[in-house]
Amino acid sequence: MSVLTVENLRQQFLDKTLYDDTGFTLNQEDHMGIIGQNGVGKSTLIKIITGQMLPDAGKIAWKKKTKIGYLDQYVSLTAKQSIFEFLKTAFDDLYALNAENEKIYASYAENPDDELLAKAGRNQEILEARNFYEVETKIHQVATGLGIDAFGLDREASTLSGGQRSRVILAKLLLEQPDVLLLDEPTNYLDTNHIDWLIDYLVDFPGAYLVISHDYEFLGQITNCVCDIEFGKITKYHGTLKQALRQKAANKETYLKAYTTQQKKIQKTKAYIRKYKAGSRSTMAKSREKQLAHMDVLTPPGNLAVSHFSFPYQPSAVRMLLEVSDLVVGYDKPLLAPFNFSIMQAEKVAITGFNGIGKSTLLKTLLGIIPPLKGNFVFSETTKVGYFRQELLWQDPMQTPLQIVHEQAPGLTQKKVRQALARAGIERDNVVKPVKVLSGGEQTKVKLCLLMLFPANLLVLDEPTNHLDDDTKHALAHAIRDFEGSVLLVTHEPEFYQGWIDRVLDIEKLQSGR
Ligand SMILES: Nc1ncnc2c1ncn2[C@@H]1O[C@H](COP(=O)(O)OP(=O)(O)OP(=O)(O)O)[C@@H](O)[C@H]1O
Ligand SMILES: [Mg+2]
Repeated sequence: MSVLTVENLRQQFLDKTLYDDTGFTLNQEDHMGIIGQNGVGKSTLIKIITGQMLPDAGKIAWKKKTKIGYLDQYVSLTAKQSIFEFLKTAFDDLYALNAENEKIYASYAENPDDELLAKAGRNQEILEARNFYEVETKIHQVATGLGIDAFGLDREASTLSGGQRSRVILAKLLLEQPDVLLLDEPTNYLDTNHIDWLIDYLVDFPGAYLVISHDYEFLGQITNCVCDIEFGKITKYHGTLKQALRQKAANKETYLKAYTTQQKKIQKTKAYIRKYKAGSRSTMAKSREKQLAHMDVLTPPGNLAVSHFSFPYQPSAVRMLLEVSDLVVGYDKPLLAPFNFSIMQAEKVAITGFNGIGKSTLLKTLLGIIPPLKGNFVFSETTKVGYFRQELLWQDPMQTPLQIVHEQAPGLTQKKVRQALARAGIERDNVVKPVKVLSGGEQTKVKLCLLMLFPANLLVLDEPTNHLDDDTKHALAHAIRDFEGSVLLVTHEPEFYQGWIDRVLDIEKLQSGR
């Protein structure tokens, strides 16, 4: 049975067609993955089906009374509310019922009314059916699963970092147990062990869901069908992700052939019309013109902008670029015990083993953004760092990529700025849009473009694969592999560095005194 049907969907931004008269169905038993290149319209699809955005055309029909749970990154976390209090709001209705019962029992003592008692009985049944008395245990289970307990359930919700916040919001959503879950790249802010927990959770989820992700390792384990967005169409594949990807590749080849053939035919017909319209074969020319007007023209293959990353190298005079001694990082209290490590010239190092805390904090400490609590670290005098931060935060989200790059590198001409953005794989249309309307992947490409402008010998990369589609991830892995300098990398996708990493440091094992 279908929970959601989308029909005749159309949406266009400037010259770019996201959906060209297309649709799909989400069935009750579907554990669906949504795939497609950066900027094809995956997140936009969620905005449309949740009613946050009206499409140019199309019909969206939800099964009546479906409770939809959507991972809303922008929900406001009330000030002065602890994480635990916030998570409890997932059960607001049950707490309200419980409070009502307490009132009933209190007034029954003074005024014995059987009607009241019957009502309390009915409430009680609901509370028991929905396991009200286990709510707190459940909150703890989910919080542990997603690594929230590591930063403290009594922590005030408004003080959280972007990544922590995302986890808390995801936890609340899971606790609410909606009929249908809609998740947009849920693994971006999780570590490997929390992703494993989420996989188990989703596999056992009784309802339907729709999960957007570029993390194929993850997606492969949680889906029984896949929707792919490409060439303005949404195509649903049943079966495993692997099968879907194989089928998609075959379909793509067929489509590209058909597209090229059609384009050739159009060009030829146009040439014929131009040549003969005014002459002896004008009737024929006119009939071809009509033919052309009625032709069902195939949507051009979308994102032709391919990323070609390359990071310029600045030679370093010394062998040791960074030495970390007995360093303790954290905001108000230590997140980890003291640890030591160093990075040598041309050495590529991945850091793993954080239990949901401290990765970005470590990188931010090394970059001088937050002070160390104890210990120290020394960069060699010739170390030149290129930093990729995890968050997508812009000083002025209304600025266009063109303006952002120009501001950071004022020496570059317009032409050079455009070339740099094109090399990062940003489409022409997108360089003049406010950066805030670009998709997650497109924004990440702008960040990588900035990193390509300045020579460095140590790249510090905090989850650089977040938001990037599969092709772009490969392009990035190549560029990092070819980079002559050193790399300090944090990622939740071990597949990303397989084959080119020199050392994987497990930070928990580096800690002294543990
Ligand atoms: N309000 C808007 N105005 C102009 N263009 C927009 C607007 N909103 C989205 N777009 C464009 O529509 C395209 C689709 O965006 P969307 O966020 O849906 O992509 P996505 O498939 O989720 O990509 P990603 O994998 O990078 O997250 C992008 O090229 C984006 O720049
Ligand atoms: Mg998106």
